Amino acid sequence: MSVTGSGSENQRVVSGMRPTGPLHLGHYHGVLKNWIQLQYQYECFFFVADWHALTTHYEDPIDIEENVWETFIDWLACGINPGSCKLFIQSRVPEHAELHLLLSMLTPLGWLERVPTYKDQQEKLREKDLATYGFLGYPLLQSADILAYKAGFVPVGEDQVSHLELTREVARRFNHLYGKEKGFEEKSLAAAAKMGKKNAAIYLECAKQYRETGNVEALERGKALVSSQGNVSLGDRERLYGYLEGTGKIILPEPYPLLSQHPKLPGLDGQKMSKSYGNTIAIREAPENIEKKIRVMPTDPARVRRTDPGDPEKCPVWSLHKVYSSEETKNWVMQGCTTAGIGCLECKKAVSDAIVEHLRPIQERAMEYKNNMPLVKEIVREGCEAARDLAEETLEEVREVMGLVHRER
Ligand code: TRP
Ligand code: SF4
Repeated sequence: MSVTGSGSENQRVVSGMRPTGPLHLGHYHGVLKNWIQLQYQYECFFFVADWHALTTHYEDPIDIEENVWETFIDWLACGINPGSCKLFIQSRVPEHAELHLLLSMLTPLGWLERVPTYKDQQEKLREKDLATYGFLGYPLLQSADILAYKAGFVPVGEDQVSHLELTREVARRFNHLYGKEKGFEEKSLAAAAKMGKKNAAIYLECAKQYRETGNVEALERGKALVSSQGNVSLGDRERLYGYLEGTGKIILPEPYPLLSQHPKLPGLDGQKMSKSYGNTIAIREAPENIEKKIRVMPTDPARVRRTDPGDPEKCPVWSLHKVYSSEETKNWVMQGCTTAGIGCLECKKAVSDAIVEHLRPIQERAMEYKNNMPLVKEIVREGCEAARDLAEETLEEVREVMGLVHRER
């Protein structure tokens, strides 16, 4: 992935999750493990997207309230560290809604209708009426969630990449329409001069070459030069990138997806783990349930009798071993399964024990947070405040360039 561009030195990460029910191992391996790593590498903002939950659950909003808090408990229990990142609730930062409205003014309908998840989800969730204005705007609200923080990176699953593409298009359109700052040319030249005589000369030469001949290498060289400057203010940086490309000031930088490096954990039936397939193990699943659910899992269909050898690659239980078992246990399974040396129940017991062991400390921590809701609420209150401060800064700029600052002198 190429991340040269105005976002490359922007080390802010934003991501959200809809509060649609208890989190399961699919969330843990697919999302949370990734976030837990990122929180130590970037400035991270993670939020519960309660408005996004309403787009599909507007008929039963009661559950959302409880799910919001339970989601935070799960995050914290899994190792999201509020000392290293900010946790907040989308609807407690109304700037997201304001930005969504403002972006809606310049977003062509066709862009939203063409987002693949729009039709897909409508078809998948046939029992719900999703021919709503709010549902069409789902990915644009997501764009606002991201652009309000000028995030450089957004950890998401494959299914969300199209929403990031839309976000970049909207940002580009916004910058094109509103990046025409008064005195932009002079301000850019002044910013270039601040890099020192020699650098400024190289920079201007790159800008000239790119603009006159479309020389992409010159553009890249210019960008690299700007991004290597330590003491350039964010505003100047945005001007320098904009000037280089011959556009205006970049007000809303384009964010890039960060796809998880962790392998996905399939559900109990081998399909994607998802609540709607009823194939999940919840992070706070009771140990006896975990054992029961694994005991009835399908196995390699060729292993009908205990004496039939099997092939772990054709068995969903093996996917769990791959994530949860030691090398030694995995060798035992491989060997035992293919020679009919072990039975499926033994094999399953080994992996359910490992899962229970892995979840034990997480479940204990969840219990502690659950018994200390004032602490959870304080963490979220602080996160909301920090998020609002940042989003407000962006909105001030956005209102300004859109002509919405009506000062009463
Ligand atoms: N749509 C995302 C999902 O279903 C959730 C989400 C909402 C999100 N706003 C976001 C993710 C902003 C990343 C950034 O998973
Ligand atoms: Fe699956 Fe284990 Fe049975 Fe082999 S022994 S089929 S891996 S459950």
